[in-house]
Amino acid sequence: MTTSAPAFNPLDLSHSEDPYPRLAALRRERPVSTPLPGWHVVVRDADVRAVLADPALWSSRRNNSSVPDTPEADRELALSQLDPPAHTRLRRLLSPAFARTVVAELEPVVRERAEALAGRFEQDTDLVGAFAAPLPRAVLAAFCGVDDADAADYDRWAATFTDLLGHRAHAEWPAFERWALRETEGRVRVLQQLDRTEAVTFLHFLIVAGVPNLRHALGNLVLRLLSEDHWRAEGLPEAIEESLRLDPPALWQMRTATRDTTVGDSPVRAGERVVAVVASANRDPARWGANADAFRPDRPGVRAHLAFGKGPHACLGASLTRLQLRVAAEVLIGRYPKLRLAPGFRFRRAGDFMSRGPAALPVHLE
Ligand code: HEM
Repeated sequence: MTTSAPAFNPLDLSHSEDPYPRLAALRRERPVSTPLPGWHVVVRDADVRAVLADPALWSSRRNNSSVPDTPEADRELALSQLDPPAHTRLRRLLSPAFARTVVAELEPVVRERAEALAGRFEQDTDLVGAFAAPLPRAVLAAFCGVDDADAADYDRWAATFTDLLGHRAHAEWPAFERWALRETEGRVRVLQQLDRTEAVTFLHFLIVAGVPNLRHALGNLVLRLLSEDHWRAEGLPEAIEESLRLDPPALWQMRTATRDTTVGDSPVRAGERVVAVVASANRDPARWGANADAFRPDRPGVRAHLAFGKGPHACLGASLTRLQLRVAAEVLIGRYPKLRLAPGFRFRRAGDFMSRGPAALPVHLE
């Protein structure tokens, strides 16, 4: 095997306007690369799946965390930063609230919020600013049962709290925490079995996990449907899966080796990091065939992509996401059947180093 493909440094944003040609070269020539000491980047579907499936070997503990490493501070770790058994306990308590049938009850609210935003578009709208960014905040507010009186505050928090690092130092944190504690004791029933710190942590994590990813997913979906000449309501669920496969908002997940081991054929020492690049696995011809880069909503097993992760940490919000993407697209297509990208549109990436979606989507409505 040749090793001419340069290593993929996940912290280097310069690759992310279009990381795919580079990831394809790595899959062929260098399936495990080491861009930084102690960081191993895996790009093949089989290796990515193996890493995500095995929390005993590949730990999620304290991923992207800035809280102190003490047993008390564990209650400030997000669900995605815990390993079994703490993760298993919390996930069991929270899962029922995210079940497909439970989330389906929100459909009328999602439609109403999407219609309200879409009804306010003007000619030459930026669909990210006017729709893809505010809709996920409004839907998460409905999911969390935010009162009208708190809606403006919540919307601002949901727009500001976008990552897990250092959020408690934010000027708005005390007000958010007061609100979250009130909700814990009141209406947000899913939280009543958690202790108070865990509940605040979770309400915050819902924003971080749910809002930016959904904004990117919605922007990526609209862009994909328009550029593939697929702007129609028929077959939307499959088109959504194919969009998530080709353009996953979360590009990669990180894990830490709990003991000396190997990934692919490469040695990894205990404590070293593995970056599992789902964006690459999702286009691996070994899994998806020779047309892996093509948009084919009718491909068999289209839902088996890794955009929502895999294994014990797989996205809890997947049903809410699928519902929201479908309803949002139905509303846009229903109102603006002739919508098209503004001439000269060029993709500019938004998102931190882990995520990818369009910064803006200038469109003509008809
Ligand atoms: C397109 C939108 C979304 C994408 C692409 C996405 C992606 C992901 C991924 C890849 C993971 C796994 C992280 C890991 O393995 O370390 C994850 C976990 C999670 N997601 Fe999502 N997510 C989305 C939307 C949402 C929404 C809307 C919510 C909630 C309202 C949500 C809640 C969660 C939670 C709670 C976890 C942690 C699960 C665990 O660690 O057990 N996500 N998400």
